[in-house]
Amino acid sequence: MSQALPTGFLWGNSTSSMQTEGGQKEGGRGPSVYDPRPAGPNNMDWSTTIDEYHRYEEDYDLMQQMGMTCYRFQIGWSRVCPTGDGDFNQAGIDFYRGQIKALIARGITPMICLYHFDMPLALAEKYNGFLSRHVVDAFVRFGKRMVDEFADLVPYWLTFNEQNLYSTSYSRVYAGCLEGGESDAEIFTITNHVMSAHAQVANYLHAHTEAKIGGMLAYEEVYPATSNPLDNQYARQLDEFMNRNLLDVFVRGHYSNEVLTYLANHKIDMDFTEADQAAFDDLYSDYIAFSYYRSDLIDSGLVPVNTSPLRYLDYGNTRNIYTRYNEWNWNIDPRGFRDIMTKVYNAYGLPLFPIENGIGVREPDTTEQIQDDYRIDYHRQHIQAMKDAIFEDGVTVLGYLGWGLIDIPASSGNMDKRYGAVYVNRTNSEVRDLARIPKKSFGWFKQVFASNGADLG
Ligand code: BG6
Repeated sequence: MSQALPTGFLWGNSTSSMQTEGGQKEGGRGPSVYDPRPAGPNNMDWSTTIDEYHRYEEDYDLMQQMGMTCYRFQIGWSRVCPTGDGDFNQAGIDFYRGQIKALIARGITPMICLYHFDMPLALAEKYNGFLSRHVVDAFVRFGKRMVDEFADLVPYWLTFNEQNLYSTSYSRVYAGCLEGGESDAEIFTITNHVMSAHAQVANYLHAHTEAKIGGMLAYEEVYPATSNPLDNQYARQLDEFMNRNLLDVFVRGHYSNEVLTYLANHKIDMDFTEADQAAFDDLYSDYIAFSYYRSDLIDSGLVPVNTSPLRYLDYGNTRNIYTRYNEWNWNIDPRGFRDIMTKVYNAYGLPLFPIENGIGVREPDTTEQIQDDYRIDYHRQHIQAMKDAIFEDGVTVLGYLGWGLIDIPASSGNMDKRYGAVYVNRTNSEVRDLARIPKKSFGWFKQVFASNGADLG
């Protein structure tokens, strides 16, 4: 046995609504941008997924048996407001109230996220997603209503899942843009619109409730590929443009000086207004939440000259010979996890909250218990790295949530890439009976949670 985590440390699971709920046409839900996406050879359609819409009680029982004390899930915008900016749907609101109460009844603290890339289809078609200020206003209206409905029951809040992904070349996909969204000016505009929406909702929550809210990033550690000083510069710039630019707003109320200088030099207009700055002036964060799966290596020699830092990884990401990779070329790097927690805490001084972590693996198609020792190894190493950040580096960490600990499809819709400690009996092409069968790691997690992180097996 090693040292336990402080009393009250939160252990649990994290998901999105489009990857869990199904119930696409039920309860008055409106379509999101995911609904028209068809099934393919390596992905399901989004109509059923793991049918959480009908099975959340069963899954919450499993979470309780596992000893979880926190569950981060998402309120689907189109379920509670079918067109995104029109009437609210009481049946949708009641559905989420049922989930929250079912969690609390089991001693599991709810954490709500308000957006996980699933833009209401009507807002995508009419306004082109977060390129539009109308969509910012619609999101703020939705967010405020959810705060009014649920903040007395839900102590932890997030607005946007992985907010730094809006500062990448895939920004348009996450932001629900059906046209354009590819130029640097558009990417920075989406970045600013999303940050403005975050700030307005966070300020409202802070002004009217006792609940806590923080920004959330997909934090990938990026190392220089060699000792070439330019590799090091690119790695540092990536951290500045992708992560610190947003952390500076979450914590200090302004964008990074380096990024603002880049925008001025390149005459890039990000549609930044006085009202945005006023919202940032009032903004503060109670914690920094982040997902962590893997690290990257940047080789500046592969990046064409005059490439924007937002796109360095599109060209220069190379393989790290010191780490092992899964089938999807995601590597296993617990040291990167520790390094992120320590450097962000040192720089910003806020509690950290890793709310997604895990390994996607193709597993046997069987209802026998799956012996997923590789998953146990992955989580053991990452929890140990987190403990090193806490006990050796002095970082304050609120909890540790694994990703999709009951199997859900990957973000691409691929059920072959599983993260769970509980097997769900379906494939990409067959829905089957969706039976839930604990894997070997279920028992391991139970022991870790029961010992508050002391017994890592
Ligand atoms: C995060 C997303 O980026 O990574 C999740 O928040 C996603 O939606 C998770 O499922 C793992 O990625 P993937 O592509 O393996 O599902």
